[in-house]
Amino acid sequence: MATIRFIREDLEVQCNPGENLRELVMKENLQLYGLKGILGNCGGAGQCSTCFISVEGGGKNSLSPLTSVEEEKLKNRPENWRLACQTLIKSSAVILTKPQSPPSNLEELKKNSENKKLPR
Ligand code: FES
Repeated sequence: MATIRFIREDLEVQCNPGENLRELVMKENLQLYGLKGILGNCGGAGQCSTCFISVEGGGKNSLSPLTSVEEEKLKNRPENWRLACQTLIKSSAVILTKPQSPPSNLEELKKNSENKKLPR
C-alpha cells in the first residue's frame, strides 16, 4: 500500500501502487479542477491541461515518469507539476491539488507536512 497525503485538504489516502492519481482524487471526492477544468475537462485523456497537481517534499520518484503528453503540456510549468490523469502512483507521496491557485497558507501546510512522517 501507498499513502497519498493531500496537503490542501489535510487528508491521507491509502491506495495501491499502480493506481491513477486522477482516479484516486475523483474517488475521494476531492476537487482536482479549477474553474476552467470544472467548465470543461477532457475526462482524463491528457488533452485539456486542467488536472494539475504538484509533488511536494521532493517525492518525484514516488510517481510514474513523465509521459510524452506531459513533457509537451508541462513545458512551461514548474518541474514538480504533473497532470494527474497521466500519473500513476508508485509509492507514498505528498501532493498539492490545483497548484495554479495555491492556498494562502501553503508554506504553513508544507511545513506541517514535513513534520509528519509519511509511510513508505
Ligand atoms: S483531465 Fe485533461 S489533461 Fe488531465
